[in-house]
Amino acid sequence: MKNKQSEKVAVIGSGLIGRAWAIVFARAGLNVNIYDQSKAALNDCLGLTKSLLEDAHTAGLINESVQSILSRIHPVETLELACSGVHFIQENIRETVEAKLEIFAELDHLAPEHAILASSTSWLPTSLFTEKLPGRARCLVGHPTNPPYLIPLVEVSPAPWTSPEVVERAMVFYEAVHQEPVLVKKEIHGFLLNRVQGAVLNEMLNLYEEGYASSADLDKVMKFGLGLRWSFMGPFETIDLNAPDGVTDYAARYGQTYADVAKTQKNNTWDAQVIAEIEQERRTILKREELDSRSRWRDNRLMNLRKHQQDQPK
Ligand SMILES: NC(=O)c1ccc[n+]([C@@H]2O[C@H](COP(=O)([O-])OP(=O)(O)OC[C@H]3O[C@@H](n4cnc5c(N)ncnc54)[C@H](O)[C@@H]3O)[C@@H](O)[C@H]2O)c1
Repeated sequence: MKNKQSEKVAVIGSGLIGRAWAIVFARAGLNVNIYDQSKAALNDCLGLTKSLLEDAHTAGLINESVQSILSRIHPVETLELACSGVHFIQENIRETVEAKLEIFAELDHLAPEHAILASSTSWLPTSLFTEKLPGRARCLVGHPTNPPYLIPLVEVSPAPWTSPEVVERAMVFYEAVHQEPVLVKKEIHGFLLNRVQGAVLNEMLNLYEEGYASSADLDKVMKFGLGLRWSFMGPFETIDLNAPDGVTDYAARYGQTYADVAKTQKNNTWDAQVIAEIEQERRTILKREELDSRSRWRDNRLMNLRKHQQDQPK
């Protein structure tokens, strides 16, 4: 991305994730066409984006003025205008196979030939909604973590027919806009992050359901335990450092125990009764009407954590 000012990308869908992507791209110096089929959503988009940028500015996460970044985000009224002259399109519309099939057919028809078409879908493999497209070799999933301007992970998940050159360009592009792309080498439902999150929730629910601990204490296992380390290193690096001679030493000491425990871990069914009990415990800790203010508190904590992470040597 040598001449950033002349570079243009498109964001399709201006909801929660679309707005957040617009910040990522504009913050990196790119011009962003943003389109939504809902006129109301498109009208609200700049105002909502401005307040997110102001919070990020206050937290010291961006140095450029909010107005200057905002001036690179251009709401446009048609999909055709959104696609005009762009080299990368990030799609963020509702999560159904039908909707993704339809929008990708339109994008493949309208976008410049060299443009990459990336979907933010949380669960759907690329091959489910691109198989029949003439331009299927330029399509892939670029799954962000909400919100991508604070959490940099992007899961790049190509279909078997996505061109390796497109995959490489997408990885380079996400890095250039200061995200942390990881490559999902084979298609899998839920990609990586949601599968790991699902595995943790599965065991948390099991332990709760079987009466081993309260939901608040199980949250503390992450908040004051595992999460502290996991906020700056992964579980593989963790076990590499948790035995004097690294991973193999750790596996020799504890691997069999983990394997035995795994045999006792069942697949949780997310039973409605159990969820209702957790809901009750949560509502005594946090009232329904406090959910919004607590979400803002969470975003502020995230911003501070991200600032701390950014300030550390890599
Ligand atoms: N919310 C999350 O935490 C999260 C995280 C990662 C990925 N995602 C994925 O991002 C995508 C968007 O999710 P969201 O949370 O931003 O949803 P959202 O409901 O906030 O926004 C979706 C927007 O898309 C618009 N839209 C719907 N159909 C359209 C179309 N055909 N053309 C143009 N605009 C259209 C809607 O008007 C709406 O403004 C989904 O695929 C979702 O799975 C969501």
